[in-house]
Amino acid sequence: MRNKLWQIAGGYLADDLIHGLPHIKRVDDNFQFFLADKPRLNDDIADALQISVILHDIGRSAAGQGDHAVKSAEIMKSLFRKELSGAKNQDWIIKAVSRHSIGLERKIKDEADTILALLCVFDHIDSIGAIGIHRLTLYWCGGQPYRIPWIPAGLNPIEKIKFREKIESYLSNPQRITRKDTDMRANSLVECLTYHFAATYEIIGPVEYTLGKNVLREIQTRLNVMKQYTSKLSQSLLI
Ligand SMILES: [Fe+2]
Ligand SMILES: [Fe+2]
Repeated sequence: MRNKLWQIAGGYLADDLIHGLPHIKRVDDNFQFFLADKPRLNDDIADALQISVILHDIGRSAAGQGDHAVKSAEIMKSLFRKELSGAKNQDWIIKAVSRHSIGLERKIKDEADTILALLCVFDHIDSIGAIGIHRLTLYWCGGQPYRIPWIPAGLNPIEKIKFREKIESYLSNPQRITRKDTDMRANSLVECLTYHFAATYEIIGPVEYTLGKNVLREIQTRLNVMKQYTSKLSQSLLI
């Protein structure tokens, strides 16, 4: 089954390091790492999650300006009529994949929510730590959807100090910002990194009880790297 899924993914995604097959391989590695911790997850959910992980971004190149998650789910519906017609619990997968760019917006109510929440965790791990910093830098500063400065431009000395204090306070109390504060992502790289750092707590919260100690340790290691880097970057505003 995994070979078949990789073959399908290869038909839709190129070798783009940020969002192509290498990203999917890293997200799948995060999933395999999670499985190695032997979580208490029933086989139906684990199987549906495997399909969701490998195919969650297949709509990216076809989506244009639209939501790639919705496009991925549309493509999956057609796969479920053909190559993947034997897959079980297709409705859970469609629901989870179609909402992965927004994430879980409520408490977990059903299996589709569990799959969505875990998919978002494995996807998000690729946005934090050294890899995450690299991806976010390339994507937000050099590619799409925005070209933002590393640090905000045009601030006077007092605004610079206030800005630095704001970033430090978010880095120290990450629960204070949520994914709803998304505007931060479009302003500067230092705010984009802060947003992704802080969003981690909201993303892992609903499924934290299923994450084993190895996954939690990996997330913490990546967050520490990101916190130090982001703090130094915001400090450079004062030099
Ligand atoms: Fe995605
Ligand atoms: Fe992704």
